[in-house]
Amino acid sequence: MVRKYSIKELLNKGTLFINKKVLVEGWIRSFRYSIFIILNDGSTIKNIQIILPKKLDKRIIKKITIGSSIRVIGIVKKSIGTKQYIELQSLDITIYESVDSKIIQKSILQPKKHSLKKLREQAHLRFRTNIFGCIMRIRHNIAFCIHKYFHENGFFYLHTPIITTSNCEGTGKMFQITTMDLKKEPIDYEKDFFKCKTYLSVSGQLEAESASLGLGKVYTFGPVFRAENSNTSRHLSEFWMIEPEIAFYHLEENINLAETFLKFIIRYIIENSMEDLVFLNQCLDNKGNQKKKNFLLEKLELILKFSFKKISYTEVIKLLDQEEKKKNIKFLHPIIWGMDLQSEHEQYLVDKYFKIPVIVFDYPCNIKAFYMRMNNDGKTVRAMDILFPGIGEILGGSQREERYDILLQRMKDTNTDKNKLWWYLDTRRFGSVPHSGFGLGFDRLVQFITGMNNIRDVIPFPRTPNNAEF
Ligand code: 4AD
Ligand code: MG
Repeated sequence: MVRKYSIKELLNKGTLFINKKVLVEGWIRSFRYSIFIILNDGSTIKNIQIILPKKLDKRIIKKITIGSSIRVIGIVKKSIGTKQYIELQSLDITIYESVDSKIIQKSILQPKKHSLKKLREQAHLRFRTNIFGCIMRIRHNIAFCIHKYFHENGFFYLHTPIITTSNCEGTGKMFQITTMDLKKEPIDYEKDFFKCKTYLSVSGQLEAESASLGLGKVYTFGPVFRAENSNTSRHLSEFWMIEPEIAFYHLEENINLAETFLKFIIRYIIENSMEDLVFLNQCLDNKGNQKKKNFLLEKLELILKFSFKKISYTEVIKLLDQEEKKKNIKFLHPIIWGMDLQSEHEQYLVDKYFKIPVIVFDYPCNIKAFYMRMNNDGKTVRAMDILFPGIGEILGGSQREERYDILLQRMKDTNTDKNKLWWYLDTRRFGSVPHSGFGLGFDRLVQFITGMNNIRDVIPFPRTPNNAEF
């Protein structure tokens, strides 16, 4: 039996395999002079070169086409070419499926430059492209190190329900789920599957809070669903969110955790995904729209270099107002205390003014969810958002309202149904404590780290308004 190796294993341990017989499998990236096959199996951005014997049956050669899947048993040799250290001298080749060259030409597997939009239209095939392969491997590493961080810091992974009756954030539409025939009138939700109206969850926070009030430190990492009609490059209808929740935690501790956590992830990716980052960096540099060389790598290093700027919402409003007057700029949305920060404001703050990530805290209560802790001024809540260069809001969190009466009042003020959330309110009667947490948009983080302009290019099968294909 000949042992099977991934191309990554072979290339990483090159010298150890010289003159050994090995088996590899993969898809053909190119085929030259009826002798050289360039093979990739997805394990790495790198390919291995296969050298075929000179006298190979013509019928087999005909079947060796771009995109075809093959198995090769061969001897590892030191490569004469300079590109790679080793190559594989084929002894035996099996073709699993030979791809018709005509269909390849219409597909994104044709080795030439394709737009990211075209890749999206063939989302089922884009895992085979260099760029999407890099993004997916990095996405994996980010997910992995998130679990690693929490595990090593005493957090427990909590699985919160996907089916829910309440809208935690109170804003935006939710996807309703039902087993009823909605054409039949009148609709009686008492007869529905759960005996009530149910939706896909927008956040696991409320359940995570109750878990934190027993386990101390928990986090969720799962898909959430929002039926907002936001067709932007930063919004998905189905996206992944990480929500840590920590008992006995104040806003300042929450802010510090968020910053440390984000820096940990970025450091981990620099240390563990360099090959893929370098490839993406080249793509961005080659696009010519980035004036700076090593745009992506420098952008990531910048995050690690400085402390994030911490500034209250009220100070932000003052600053933007002053800037408008001093520099004669005009924002589309006028700067008034109480307004929600729009992308143009976020961009100005992060990309033009501070040029590092910015943490804005203590927002007006009227623009934030019911569960955030009221400050003594009676106007602002202990909220915090982290704004990242080129992305805007990447993470949002708060200290939670732990005082029963004030929470009840906030629920009334925001039209939050206290009957549905009786259990949430109830946690404030059984040893309530100050606690805090945040939600990190996983796909936005992948977008930032990979430097992609569109969030649809960092998730395998994006769900957006008018689009649920694949
Ligand atoms: O700010 P959001 O709505 O916060 C919450 O859901 C809280 N329950 C979190 C918490 O405190 N536990 O969402 C959190 C993050 C945002 O900062 C953003 O990065 C991301 O989720 N996000 C989206 N990402 C992709 N597509 C969308 N439509 C998103 N909406 C929010
Ligand atoms: Mg938010």
